[in-house]
Amino acid sequence: MASTWNTKIHGFFLLLATTVVSSLVFAHPIDAAGYTSAVRRVPVFRPSKWSLAHATFYGDETASATMGGACGYGNLFQNGYGTNTAALSTTLFNNGYSCGACFQIKCTNSPHCYSSYGSTPFITVTATNICPPNWSQDSNNGGWCNPPRSHFDMSKPAFMRIANWKAGIIPVMFRRVPCAPKGGIRFQFQGNGYWLLVYVMNVAGGGDIAQMWVKGSRTGWISMSHNWGASYQAFSSLGGQSLSFRVQSYSTKEIIYAMNVAPSNWNTGSTYKSNANFH
Ligand SMILES: *[C@@H]1O[C@H](CO)[C@@H](O)[C@H](O)[C@H]1NC(C)=O
Repeated sequence: MASTWNTKIHGFFLLLATTVVSSLVFAHPIDAAGYTSAVRRVPVFRPSKWSLAHATFYGDETASATMGGACGYGNLFQNGYGTNTAALSTTLFNNGYSCGACFQIKCTNSPHCYSSYGSTPFITVTATNICPPNWSQDSNNGGWCNPPRSHFDMSKPAFMRIANWKAGIIPVMFRRVPCAPKGGIRFQFQGNGYWLLVYVMNVAGGGDIAQMWVKGSRTGWISMSHNWGASYQAFSSLGGQSLSFRVQSYSTKEIIYAMNVAPSNWNTGSTYKSNANFH
């Protein structure tokens, strides 16, 4: 099966590759009218049309190989994603902007597909990882994740819900569907006193993030830059201030506010839960 990203090896080099300057130059306050505006239509994420792709699996029945993926969700059990997850080919991964997106996947046109009472069972997975290209293998013979292929390298438990794992690779139909986690968006903090790196988790609706801003109790809104996977950063001294976030959905462009999510004594390594989520 295709090999997948490992956080420990690749994550840090991406952190280094990020420019400090962009965050400072583009830091700007958002005017208050942005979130006191009166009635407006709330964008709701709608399922997409079905498309064709293929699927394989990685790891074993424990799904332990899916931990530490390229979206930065770390331990998928602790962070609510469980075993129904997939690594996306480069084309679907969209440079990390597809992290958190939810897909319905069903096996089609293979003798290895499971069927129940004549209908094709489907599984809903969350994108938590990338399946990188392997250019030493042909795209149609092992290089399943090479661009421009749409490919899902699923956890083995998820794959086994729709087909016999002995198939190895199966043709599938897939579509984007709304993510429906319980509760609000969660923000996991990393970084240090001058650099706040936030992993955004438990996102509903499209499940994906386009842009983020942070506001300390003594600052205006500061634009955060995309680091890698589902993480965003600000190069600012925000210690000792309670923090709020403004988050924009990639799919629907909806903007929501998670006010005073972290108390002034917040620390890195902690996860802060909000009540806000997308539709
Ligand atoms: C790419 O494919 C080759 C040939 O099967 C294999 O030996 C190699 O380990 C693969 N590389 C990665 C990064 O998976």
